Amino acid sequence: MSILLTGGTGFIGSHTAVELIESGYDVIIADNLSNSSASVIDRIEQITGIRPVFYKIDVSDKAALQNLFAEQDIDAVIHFAGFKAVGESVEKPLEYYRNNLDTTLTLLEVMEQFDVHQFVFSSSATVYGSENPYPYTETMKKGSCSNPYGWTKSMIEQILGDAAVANSNLSVVLLRYFNPIGAHESGLIGEDPQGIPNNLMPFISQVAVGKRPKLTIFGDDYDTPDGTCRRDYLHVVDLADAHVKALEYASEHKGVEIFNIGTGTPYSVLEIVHAFEKSNSVAVPYEIGARRDGDLPEFWADAEKAKTMLGWEAKRSLEDMCRDSWNWQKKNPNGYRE
Ligand code: NAD
Ligand code: UD1
Repeated sequence: MSILLTGGTGFIGSHTAVELIESGYDVIIADNLSNSSASVIDRIEQITGIRPVFYKIDVSDKAALQNLFAEQDIDAVIHFAGFKAVGESVEKPLEYYRNNLDTTLTLLEVMEQFDVHQFVFSSSATVYGSENPYPYTETMKKGSCSNPYGWTKSMIEQILGDAAVANSNLSVVLLRYFNPIGAHESGLIGEDPQGIPNNLMPFISQVAVGKRPKLTIFGDDYDTPDGTCRRDYLHVVDLADAHVKALEYASEHKGVEIFNIGTGTPYSVLEIVHAFEKSNSVAVPYEIGARRDGDLPEFWADAEKAKTMLGWEAKRSLEDMCRDSWNWQKKNPNGYRE
């Protein structure tokens, strides 16, 4: 079976490409490299021994996408392509709505044209908004998002639901990711943020490797066990495996199904810092700073549905996540840049 990964040279897409190839799928990647490097293709080949087919295209370029579908016999699509920086989405909302919605709409139109009906989408826990109690379950109503990035995910979920009502052949799996961290155990692929990292784990790794003097913890006066925010961190390879299961599910069902992809266990910022120090025997200097706008005190997944219906659950520990993040950072202090 041939699977198209849009955004497949990115952080989650590259790990999913490896797991799919190792499960026997043929992988075709479409990415415009706006937030990733072409050398990811070499790294995937180094890990798996197989080189995925690569198209350097913008997924909202309809003619380019039609050409890809005409040349390749695609059975299913996993749609990772999109912009994902929460803060940047507040500054550049139109670019976020344009890119995230256009890529999805173009993809759906071209899939319909070429009779491809299986679609897995990278959604986010952010669609639960601030109104829902935790742990989040898939039956909860979606909430209000605190930023345009989150709204693009919520809107795309709506678009995919409407498309599935109109086309009864369509099979859509919405994966709501919690907080993916870690890297492939080889240290050949990992998260490679441009500039100052927004997310916690890449920031910690860059402090540990000496690129940044210290971590600022955004608030220690929340109503949580140690006062710092709690999140459901999961290993990116476990997340990649969830896509393999989601594809199996999509090939056997029609309509829309939503799955939380998390471990079901929250950890605080301080717990992450200390786990990183202990697992890797390195120091992570930190200071306590002000709260970050838009942060929720805590949330985590009810992960039962994915376990029961997909046969997926996270296997890797927090120690594995910290060790693999560090292994990637140490081996690639400048990411994919030489
Ligand atoms: P990433 O930025 O590493 O990967 C996204 C890829 O999409 C990049 O390689 C980028 O070059 C590509 N891309 C962007 N716009 C494109 C376009 N118009 N045409 C072709 N390629 C395009 O991000 P990631 O962390 O791997 O996230 C993958 C998906 O998962 C995204 O949709 C993201 O919103 C979603 N997600 C990520 C997280 C997270 O914590 N990383 C959490 C929830 C959801
Ligand atoms: C954010 C987004 C989410 C997105 C995810 C991954 C919101 C509400 N959520 O999640 O939609 O999918 O990023 O891109 O915007 N922290 C620090 N210091 C730092 C960095 C982070 O203390 O330098 C803390 C944060 O306050 C938070 C935790 O670490 O409590 C995790 O932060 P982060 O990695 O940015 O993820 P989220 O905010 O959970």
